[in-house]
Amino acid sequence: MQVHQIYTRSQLRNFTYIVEGSNGHQFIIDPWNAQECMDFCAKRGGLIKGVINTHEHWDHTRGNEEIVKKTRCAVYAHPLGKGKIEEANVFLEEGDSISIDETTRLQAIDTPGHTFAHLCLLLIVKEKVVGVFTGDTLFNAGVGNCHNGGDPAVLYETITHKFKVLPKDVIVYLGHEYLGNNLKFTLDREPSNREAQNWLKKYEDINWERAPQTTTMADELEINTFLRLDKEEIRKGLDEGSGLPQTDKETFLKLRERRNHW
Ligand SMILES: [Fe+2]
Repeated sequence: MQVHQIYTRSQLRNFTYIVEGSNGHQFIIDPWNAQECMDFCAKRGGLIKGVINTHEHWDHTRGNEEIVKKTRCAVYAHPLGKGKIEEANVFLEEGDSISIDETTRLQAIDTPGHTFAHLCLLLIVKEKVVGVFTGDTLFNAGVGNCHNGGDPAVLYETITHKFKVLPKDVIVYLGHEYLGNNLKFTLDREPSNREAQNWLKKYEDINWERAPQTTTMADELEINTFLRLDKEEIRKGLDEGSGLPQTDKETFLKLRERRNHW
């Protein structure tokens, strides 16, 4: 099994992923440019078996129609994506799996918050979770916004109960290239964060548009402010005259609000 990350060069800096089994079966996650995806898959010599959309926003579903027209493949989405996601015809509930090859599967997790039709996908090899495709829920060093059909309080629950609990070596395959900006936000909230400083230096030194951009959950726990809610420096910085936030949830909501206007 291989995971291919395609940087789309879209104005929203989207990533598309192609998960390819050892049997040549290919699944395209969040296709931006249909032709580019199909060319990539054809070059690899495999067979496109499905498209999977993490959620209904147009920048994650833009390639659906053309890929289905050419390949007649299945389109998988969250049940609440019905009627919102073009060509979607297989709806994944929490725990449902798509078999990739003999040892690999993608398992859906219900991840509301950015929108309510948002799912993420655990990449499971030989029954071990090795990766997670996070769409617009968890980013490298950040989380998704809630402007277009979401709810920050629900996003907090999802981030805390579905992501923070993942094993530390799980690879995070995110939906957008926002790392540099997100690291700057982390450092704005937590200037003493050495890991974030190191990552920002690395980010600025490398052409991330060409290099694959992934982190692990262990990295995220170090550089993602939204996973570091109990840190004193972060809470102190959120005192708006009425005292420090007292709970993780309150801290998360204040951070999300700050990030909206940052
Ligand atoms: Fe989105």
